[in-house]
Amino acid sequence: MTGVPAALPESSATDQPSLAVIVLAAGAGTRMRSALPKPLHQIGGRPLVAYALRSAAALRATSTVIVVGHGADEVRSALGAGYTFALQEPQLGTAHAVEVALPEMPSHAEIVFVLFSDTPLIRTETLAAMRDAHRAQCARVTILTTEITDPAQYGRIVRDGAGRVTAIVEFEHATEKQRAITEINSGVCCFDGAWLRATLPRVQTNSTGEKYLTDLVALALEDAGGDGWPVATVTVDAVEAMGVNDRVQLAEAEAALNRRTLERLMRSGVTVRDPALTHIDDTVTIGQDTVIEPGCILRGDTTIGGGCVVGPYALVTESRIGDRCRIVASSIEHAAIESDCDCGPYSHLRPGAHVRAETHIGNFVELKQTVIGPHAAVGHFSYLGDATIGADVNIGAGTITANYDGTPAKQRTEIGDRAFIGVDTLLRAPVRVGEDAATGAGAVVTRDVAAGELVAGVPARPMRRKGTETPQGGT
Ligand code: UD1
Ligand code: CA
Repeated sequence: MTGVPAALPESSATDQPSLAVIVLAAGAGTRMRSALPKPLHQIGGRPLVAYALRSAAALRATSTVIVVGHGADEVRSALGAGYTFALQEPQLGTAHAVEVALPEMPSHAEIVFVLFSDTPLIRTETLAAMRDAHRAQCARVTILTTEITDPAQYGRIVRDGAGRVTAIVEFEHATEKQRAITEINSGVCCFDGAWLRATLPRVQTNSTGEKYLTDLVALALEDAGGDGWPVATVTVDAVEAMGVNDRVQLAEAEAALNRRTLERLMRSGVTVRDPALTHIDDTVTIGQDTVIEPGCILRGDTTIGGGCVVGPYALVTESRIGDRCRIVASSIEHAAIESDCDCGPYSHLRPGAHVRAETHIGNFVELKQTVIGPHAAVGHFSYLGDATIGADVNIGAGTITANYDGTPAKQRTEIGDRAFIGVDTLLRAPVRVGEDAATGAGAVVTRDVAAGELVAGVPARPMRRKGTETPQGGT
C-alpha cells in the first residue's frame, strides 16, 4: 500500500552504512478530533504513515519498525502483514517511543532514522542528504530543520554564536526569547545507532510526564569527544517539513503534495490547465502532450498515455488510458481504455471495463466487466455488464444487458464482430449474438442469434438474413 519508492541518490561514500528506520505512529493525534487514528488519515489517496514507510523503503533500510499505540489494532490491520510493529502503551513521548522500538531492531544498525507518521512531505533526497551529512560530520545526532515565519508549537532550534546547534527546546518549555526563534525542528532525525542505544535510558521524564527525543541533542553535547560537533543539521523549506496535527494542516499537506506532483508532471510535458482545480496522486503517470482540463481527479496506480485530453471533470481511479484519448466528465475506475478512444460526457466505466482501440463511448454509458471493440461504438444510454463485444460493433441507444437473474453469478453476453445492435435492445444473458448479426429496435433477445441473422420483436425472432435491407434502429 505504500507505492513505489522513489530512487535514492547514492551516497558519495562507497560503503553504505547499515541503516534502520523507526516510524513513530503511536501518538493520540488529539488535534485531529477523529475516531480514525491520525496515521490513517489520508493525503494523495494514501494514509499519512505510508509516506514514512515509502521513505524507509527508498533508504533501503535493513529494518523498519513502526511504533503503534493509539488505535494500534486499526493501524496494524490497515497496513497489513509484512511490517514489524512495536506497541507503545501508554504513550510517554517520542523518546519513549524509540525506546520501545529498539528491541525490535537489529543491534548493529550504524544509523537509525526516526521518521514521524505525521510528516509526510519529506523527500527521499533530503533523507539521503541527512545520511551523508551525518557520516561526513561523524555526528551522533542529525536533525532536519526549517525556517518558518509562524513557528507556532514546533520545537525551536537553539544555536550558539558559531551557529552550532546546542539544543532543541519544545514550545512549552521555551523562554520568550527562544520562542522568537524561527528555525524549528521537523522531527525527522537520525542517530549513531550504538550511541542511541546507550543514551536513550538517560533521557529524563520532563514536567509534562513525557520523554522527548529532542533532549538527545543536549545529551550528545554532554558526551564530549570525537572530532567534530556531535549535532549535524540539514535544512529544508517549510512546506517539506510541515507536520500534520489537525485537519487544516491535513488539507495544507494534501495541497502541497498535489502541487508537487502537478509541477513534476508539467515539467515532464503535461499541460495542467488549472492546478487549483486538479488533484493527481503522486502514483499517477501521464504521457507527454496530454492536457488535463480543470476538475480532474486522478487516483492511485493510474497511467494515462500521451496526447490525450482528460476532462473537464474526470475521475480516474486505478486505470489505464492509452494515447490520444479524449475523456470528458466521466468516472473510470479499475478500467482500461486503449489508444484513440473517446469517452463521455457522463459515462461510468466500472471495474473490469476494457475499451479497445479506436472505440467510441458516448454519454450515459455504464460498463462493467466488459470488453468492447476495437472500432466499436456505444453512443448513448447503455448498460453493458459481463459482456464481450467484438470489433466494429455498433451498440444502439438504450441497449441493456440483463446480466442479473437474482443469483450471485452474473450471466454473460457475447456479441460477435460487426454485429449491429438496434436501439433499445435488451439482451437477456446468458446470450450470444453472432458475427454480422443485427437486432431490430426494441428487440428483447432471449436466445442466441446466429451469425448474419436479423432478429426483432419481443421476444426477438429471426426476420431475414442481414444484407437484403438495413435494419431499423441504429445510431
Ligand atoms: C514533535 C517534536 C517537535 C517538532 C515537531 C515537528 C518532540 C518532543 N517534539 O512535536 O520538536 O517541532 O514534532 O512536527 O519530539 N508519537 C509516538 N509516541 C508518543 C508521542 C508521539 O509515537 O508517545 C509520535 C506521533 O504519533 C507522531 C510523532 O511521534 O507521529 C510526533 O508526535 P507529536 O505529538 O505530534 O509531536 P509534536 O508535538 O508535533
Ligand atoms: Ca506533530
